[in-house]
Amino acid sequence: MRLIIQATVVAVLLVYGPHVWSQHAEERIPAELLEAFHDLEAQATENPERMDHLIAEGRDRARFCNTCHGPDGSADRPNYPSLAGQDPLYLLDQFQQFASGEREKEWMNVLAEQFTTEEMVTLSIYYSQMSLVGADFDPELAEQGSMPYARYCTQCHGSDGLGGEGYARIAGQQPVYLKNVLREYRSGETSRRPSEMHGIVRALSDRDIESVAHHVASLGKNR
Ligand code: HEC
Ligand code: HEC
Repeated sequence: MRLIIQATVVAVLLVYGPHVWSQHAEERIPAELLEAFHDLEAQATENPERMDHLIAEGRDRARFCNTCHGPDGSADRPNYPSLAGQDPLYLLDQFQQFASGEREKEWMNVLAEQFTTEEMVTLSIYYSQMSLVGADFDPELAEQGSMPYARYCTQCHGSDGLGGEGYARIAGQQPVYLKNVLREYRSGETSRRPSEMHGIVRALSDRDIESVAHHVASLGKNR
């Protein structure tokens, strides 16, 4: 009996404990999808022609996507996220969250449901290979945001905002999109999965959110 209780406690800790929030996208993506990604990525890294072909395929598949996400995934409208230069594992992780309905956004769910495994992988690699044309930002607010950014954000997204290892790249995103995301997390009204983000943004005032958003946008300058 004691053993069963102990085993249950361990199981509960494993499911709900800090592991849930160990946010490595690699640990969350279904094994089959991850394997397909690593296979294709390895082929493309070894063979530049394969990479060119993959990018052409991705660009073709993304024609419709770019009406909202901008040319080659650099968003040119304020409330849409850029996908260019994004971490490919972050993208893959988001695709499968949209496809499964875990993350909700009308259009994105309908689109992602139709993706094949190969399309998800191709689109992730294609967007990750594009260089981001960063968004416009207010330099004064960006400067004010550097302190709260260093204090609250660098730990996971890096001092350059480039993320990596499954963490989202945030540098150069549209300030309006960034503000919306932070507010969404702060209000708790979001279908984004539970993560440390929920706790962190609670410490931010409206002013912090405004300045941090511009600071993050400014990190995309010339990248
Ligand atoms: C009608 C506009 C629209 C179209 C078309 C569209 N998207 Fe989106 N997409 C959005 C919006 C809006 C969001 C942000 C959702 C949110 O705020 O949670 C988004 C989010 C995303 C994200 C998550 C980005 C992040 O930083 O978390 C990815 C990845 C994505 N879209 C990929 C695609 C792909 C691939 C296509 C084409 C097959 C596509 N989108 C087509 C509007 C669109
Ligand atoms: C302890 C780690 C951690 C810290 C610190 C952190 N984040 Fe995040 N952030 C995450 C994780 C994990 C996600 C992705 C969650 C998911 O998969 O849905 C994320 C997602 C985001 C996104 C959504 C990206 C997109 O493209 O939609 C933004 C924007 C963001 N964080 C900004 C910030 C800012 C600004 C700060 C500082 C105020 C911050 N984060 C601090 C872990 C962190």
